[in-house]
Amino acid sequence: MTDLTGKIALVTGGGNGIGLAAARALQAGGATVVTAGRNAQRAQDFRSQYGDVFAKVYVADAGSIPETTAFVEQVGNDYGRIDIIFANAGFGEPAPLGHITEENFDKQFNVNVKSVIFTVQAALPFLNEGASIILNSSIANQLGFANFSVYAATKGAVKTLGKIMAAELVGRGIRVNVVSPGPIDTGFFGATGMSEEEQQQTGEYIRAKVPMGRFGRAEEIGSYVAFLASDGSTFMTGTEVEIDGGMATL
Ligand SMILES: NC(=O)c1ccc[n+]([C@@H]2O[C@H](COP(=O)([O-])OP(=O)(O)OC[C@H]3O[C@@H](n4cnc5c(N)ncnc54)[C@H](OP(=O)(O)O)[C@@H]3O)[C@@H](O)[C@H]2O)c1
Repeated sequence: MTDLTGKIALVTGGGNGIGLAAARALQAGGATVVTAGRNAQRAQDFRSQYGDVFAKVYVADAGSIPETTAFVEQVGNDYGRIDIIFANAGFGEPAPLGHITEENFDKQFNVNVKSVIFTVQAALPFLNEGASIILNSSIANQLGFANFSVYAATKGAVKTLGKIMAAELVGRGIRVNVVSPGPIDTGFFGATGMSEEEQQQTGEYIRAKVPMGRFGRAEEIGSYVAFLASDGSTFMTGTEVEIDGGMATL
């Protein structure tokens, strides 16, 4: 049951990868979907490439809290309410212990954690009973991936945030759930700063650890996000769902 007719959905990082797949699934269910590009050029790219998916593309760098807050408030004012949030924008910049810089730490925590908190906080006045918030964590929150300590810590924070937000919003009839994808074939690894060779080696290493023997597709996360947004999941809140080809469990 993914009838989302008439719902207003805000997706962060919706211009590609998992965010785009989720935006497509939400839009296919009947929702009006909006996102933001990190700057005017990115926003224009997303508008011209995915005008069929997004009703509007705003400009907001998820690493900037003033921009994030202004974006969410603008969506609320433009549409009068927000029914679905998929807080998805994020990235990883691996560094081994001994090489983690304050800048590396702050960048990842700003985009992956701080923006999640301030996205939801800015949306509070526009969320009504029945609204559904979905946060994008990662199974990195429970695995021991060398070099990804800061990234994994951000995703552990997102998982915990989801639980506490759910507890705080349950009285308003607002649900909060967390998806934790396993390795998914997107631009994620290309954005890590790893060389092509490192990406290939890391990809092979990870694939060998997935019981299903492959990376997931962004659509395999997007469809579940649409389910969590829908009336098919109305008794779920505070939950983390692993979508990972069995990687964390088997
Ligand atoms: N792929 C995986 O294996 C995997 C596994 C578990 C969890 N995840 C999580 O899934 C989420 C989406 O990642 P993905 O795999 O779909 O990778 P992706 O294809 O690189 O997409 C990331 C999205 O986030 C946006 N973004 C990043 N930093 C931003 C910023 N400062 N301001 C605005 N937008 C920003 C990117 O915009 P640009 O296009 O402008 O860069 C892009 O739209 C992330 O939170 C990631 O941690 C991914």
